[in-house]
Amino acid sequence: MKAMKKLVKYIKPYLLFAILAPLFMCIEVVMDLLQPTIMQQMIDTGIANQDNEYVIKFGLIMLLCAIIGLIGGMGCIVFSAKAAVNFATDIRRDVFKKTGRFSNQNIDSFGTGKLITITTNDITTVQQAVIMILRIFVRGPLLFIGSVVIVWFTARELFPILLVAIPVLIAFIYFFSVKSGKLFSRVQKAMDKVNTKLQETLAGIRVIKAFDRQSYEKAHFKKVNNLLTNRLMTAEQLVLTLMPIMMFVVNLGIIAGLWLGVIKVNEGTLQVGVILAFLNYLNIMMNGLISSSHVLMQIARSFPSAERIVHTLETKIDITEPVQPCTVDDLKGEVEFRKVNFSYSKNGINVLQNISFKARAGQTVGIIGSTGSGKSTLVKLIPRLYDPDSGEILIDGVNVKDIPLENLRNSIGFVPQKATLFSGTIEENLRYGKELASEGELDQATKTAAASEFIMRLDDKFSHSLLQGATNLSGGQKQRLSMARAFIRKPSILVLDDSTSAIDALSEGLVQQALREDYADSTVFIISSKISSIIDADQIIVMKDGEIEASGKHDELLRKSEVYRKIVATQTGREVEFG
Ligand SMILES: Nc1ncnc2c1ncn2[C@@H]1O[C@H](COP(=O)(O)OP(=O)(O)OP(=O)(O)O)[C@@H](O)[C@H]1O
Ligand SMILES: [Mg+2]
Repeated sequence: MKAMKKLVKYIKPYLLFAILAPLFMCIEVVMDLLQPTIMQQMIDTGIANQDNEYVIKFGLIMLLCAIIGLIGGMGCIVFSAKAAVNFATDIRRDVFKKTGRFSNQNIDSFGTGKLITITTNDITTVQQAVIMILRIFVRGPLLFIGSVVIVWFTARELFPILLVAIPVLIAFIYFFSVKSGKLFSRVQKAMDKVNTKLQETLAGIRVIKAFDRQSYEKAHFKKVNNLLTNRLMTAEQLVLTLMPIMMFVVNLGIIAGLWLGVIKVNEGTLQVGVILAFLNYLNIMMNGLISSSHVLMQIARSFPSAERIVHTLETKIDITEPVQPCTVDDLKGEVEFRKVNFSYSKNGINVLQNISFKARAGQTVGIIGSTGSGKSTLVKLIPRLYDPDSGEILIDGVNVKDIPLENLRNSIGFVPQKATLFSGTIEENLRYGKELASEGELDQATKTAAASEFIMRLDDKFSHSLLQGATNLSGGQKQRLSMARAFIRKPSILVLDDSTSAIDALSEGLVQQALREDYADSTVFIISSKISSIIDADQIIVMKDGEIEASGKHDELLRKSEVYRKIVATQTGREVEFG
């Protein structure tokens, strides 16, 4: 309820449409309500007195009412759609904008499956509720109240029937609306599960095939899909059961109306036309109540959706801009970690512990260590993809938290461990690193990343289109483009997270040489599991279980680091004896 109120601001720009829609609906309702009374006049005065002129006159009035009603109905449809669709579009825009600003921690806590359900299903549910409110919320109660009032004035003898039927109908509607709200909230949760599974399966379809795990995945999907089916079935069945129950109550009312009517006609206190009009109004009343109940259920259904949307829009982003920013025009690239501790889940185990080191501007820092030792996590803290729990990270002596995010991230070229490219041309992907890069810069960056050779072999070269997930490139080609995208920035700080793992030794040598020549001023972090990639680094950091086991140059580490000696030994196939 509260959440729905918070979304009301999105309807404000379209308030005119939101007001016009129910007004047009009022026209339709009034016309609908006039019809049975006109018909009653036709029967009791025109037909009973065999006055043809009277019948034709009232027939024409009925037709006119029908046409005006149609215009009212159409107007309501047009304006309600304009209001609700624009309302939903604006919410979708803001949710997308907000999720774009989410920190990695925020994304981790939501999960992409849930975010997809929110941007698609939840927003559509709320949009549907608004359409229903504008169209039917006026129509239903108006039809209902109108018919009750007209029956009071024109068929008071039959009014007691309504006194029994109405409370029974309202009690059913209340019960079903409350229950359906709860059931649809469970449906949404099941929908999250289906979306998450679907997204995971589609992203990993190649792995699934390679491992021939289709039947396993099918069984897994079936489980979540069945859960959704069952919950949806229960909820929909409940909603649909209401209709026959209401019909049954109204039919009882019709029988009672006929029975009481016939008695009164025989007594001579009631005309036949009045019974007919009463039965008509009973039907209109039921329609009014049923449509109101549908709106109520749609609204109840939209509450959990609205809550999830508002929760997304109001989620606190934990990586925020500095309160007193310290803009550094030209970052030189000196990076210092001071007693940094970090865990992914608050109060969870530390993934990084007491990390302290200093990399001078222009230095190359190699990071090596076993899998899961915290290498990727360490470099993710530099562009503030995550913030440390304690300790600080300084660039050129300024805490990264005090540097405006744009300023900070624009100074860093980041090559993530998993090369992620976007659908579009190679050039578009490279310009992701620097939008206004010149052709010369494109050439140089691709050369440095040893990517130009394969690009030049393509018919359409830089205009070559990549499919979603760059599935039409090899692993090494993806890595090369991912590197070129970072190089093109000529950043003060370059981070290469295991980015040469799929590149042959010869090309890797060329990349390293080009890096030394073209990026001599940049501070370069190279994470690698291969000694050859970091052997020449000015400083090598050896990670073990989230801690720095040792740091120094290659020769120094051979003397003082047990872990490093072991890595060298396994890679060269020789025991290394030092110190
Ligand atoms: N988003 C995340 N949420 C929770 N835990 C995470 C997350 N990312 C990594 N971890 C955990 O943090 C630890 C360090 O991970 P990290 O990716 O830094 O290791 P790594 O040294 O880069 O390993 P590798 O050599 O395999 O790339 C691991 O135990 C991992 O399970
Ligand atoms: Mg890693």
